[in-house]
Amino acid sequence: MPFDPSFLDALVERNPIEEVVGQYVTLTRRGSNLFGLCPFHSEKTASFSVAPDKGIYYCFGCHAGGGVINFIMQIESLDYPDAVRFLARRAGLEVPEDEQYRSQYQKQERLRALCKDAARWFREQLFSPAGEPARQYIARRGLSPNTVVRFGLGFSPNAWGDLTDAMKQKGYRIDELIDAGLALRGKNGGVYDRFRNRLMFPIIDVRGSVIGFGGRVMDDSTPKYLNSPETSIFNKRKNLFALNIARKSKQGRIILTEGYMDAITLHQYGFDCAVASLGTSLTEDHANILARYTDTVVLTYDSDEAGQNATRRAIPMLEKTGIQVKVLRMQGAKDPDEYLKKFGADRFSVLLDRCENQAEYRLESLRRKYDLTADDQRVEFLGKAAELIASFPSAVQREVYGARAAEAASITPEAMKLEVGKAYRRLRAIERKKQESADMDCTRQQQPKVRGIRYDNLTSALAEEGLLRTLLQEPELIPEAKLAAEEFSVPLFGSVFTQLQTRMRAGSPVTLAALEGDFSPEEMAHLSYIMNKNSLPVSVEALRDYTRTIREEHEKAHLERSEDSLRRLAQMKRPNNNGG
Ligand code: UTP
Ligand code: MN
Repeated sequence: MPFDPSFLDALVERNPIEEVVGQYVTLTRRGSNLFGLCPFHSEKTASFSVAPDKGIYYCFGCHAGGGVINFIMQIESLDYPDAVRFLARRAGLEVPEDEQYRSQYQKQERLRALCKDAARWFREQLFSPAGEPARQYIARRGLSPNTVVRFGLGFSPNAWGDLTDAMKQKGYRIDELIDAGLALRGKNGGVYDRFRNRLMFPIIDVRGSVIGFGGRVMDDSTPKYLNSPETSIFNKRKNLFALNIARKSKQGRIILTEGYMDAITLHQYGFDCAVASLGTSLTEDHANILARYTDTVVLTYDSDEAGQNATRRAIPMLEKTGIQVKVLRMQGAKDPDEYLKKFGADRFSVLLDRCENQAEYRLESLRRKYDLTADDQRVEFLGKAAELIASFPSAVQREVYGARAAEAASITPEAMKLEVGKAYRRLRAIERKKQESADMDCTRQQQPKVRGIRYDNLTSALAEEGLLRTLLQEPELIPEAKLAAEEFSVPLFGSVFTQLQTRMRAGSPVTLAALEGDFSPEEMAHLSYIMNKNSLPVSVEALRDYTRTIREEHEKAHLERSEDSLRRLAQMKRPNNNGG
């Protein structure tokens, strides 16, 4: 349900962007804008800007941008409605909610409260007499008391209904226990606790709410780990264990592990940037979430076959988001937990610092696929290696890894260099072709990568940008822009234009920030980017120029399409005309 526009206007007005952002980022004024270190990517010079008069933020480094609601969505990892509620609470505004929305939200809040109470109760059990075996297990695993507290570990007793009884006493209903994944209904209708006789790991989301649990047996029985099922508050594809802590790390990277225990042990040994996926493989959602918090991810999956396959799958997924991926390989231990306990933090640090960038990893993985004592396999390896190495971005890299591949296959570095050179030229030719066709329909200027926003007509698109920039800066000029949305070559700009007109007529504030509810975060970021481009000073003349260009380009395109149809029509008719 969309929120009432006048409520949203009040919300934006009562939450000045510089104040809201200022609670997360230290801002300093430079001219009419404020600048600070971007909270969405790690950087040393301030490229994150806030424009109080426009009500927007924009990062010149990672192209994050939008209005105050987008900012809260991004920094608190909330969806749109929750970000609105967050800001309403901040400003002391009542949210006019749809009944269905309200009840859904309240239901989820109940489940979150229930999980929190369950986590408390599990912790009490850990320190009760019944928790003795679990405390012993914790000691055997080498977890410090501090770690136990930091991760809120607990114990589910060896009984069928203790948790359910305790939570009923606290006022929760059976169906709520089932909806939260804490209890199950048996065949004969009875209800029993899901987690029994297990060491309990609460799973906490980035907002700090307990949303689920992992439970480990303390012997060799199976399943080793039991996890909460998917619930209305727990989505495994979108949550990562320990991200609530790792997101605040100052270590400038995120270490991604396979297991809860690996992440926890890493934290105990000082690597407070470790997270684990939740018994599933990494998803695209995970990758996108990680990209909000870091630009470097170190993969430390198990050294077994399954772990290596998972590594291979994760690399392209993470790279697609712009994250730099490194792969850490351990010798003498199967996972980080084991490694740290055997060799300590210092040696892990060394591994971490010189851990393979993925160039090395990929070459090594390729090499392992071939038996390099057989000539035909060597030839095949060298061909594939040359292709791979040719794709490395720097000449130094190509030189170094070329030499390494040559050595592995016992040929001279010179011969390899020739091969890589050939592969490189082939690749460049393909890329050049691709680039040429991209240039035809995309602006040559640096432009953020935004899915679905394409500039089919650069001349018109740039004029459209200028027009919107002008109108947002001088809304009084809106009536002067006599255009129809269809005349815009970029559909997004057409809809923004319509929105601005509507708002102007309704007497609502005409700011970019006010548009947040109507456009996606990506679209908002693109609009913020446009607002920050250098351009001609705002004037009626400039506006007229933009308008004229847009109209002319539209008419040209229209004409071309009609000529095209005419030509096709003529072609279809030709056989008939032959006789005349
Ligand atoms: P592993 O079997 O590699 O366990 O599972 P581990 O992390 O080394 O755990 P310890 O050291 O024996 O305690 C890795 C992850 O896979 C999921 C869990 O999320 C676990 O952390 N898993 C594993 C399950 O969900 N269920 C299982 O039965 C086993
Ligand atoms: Mn382990």
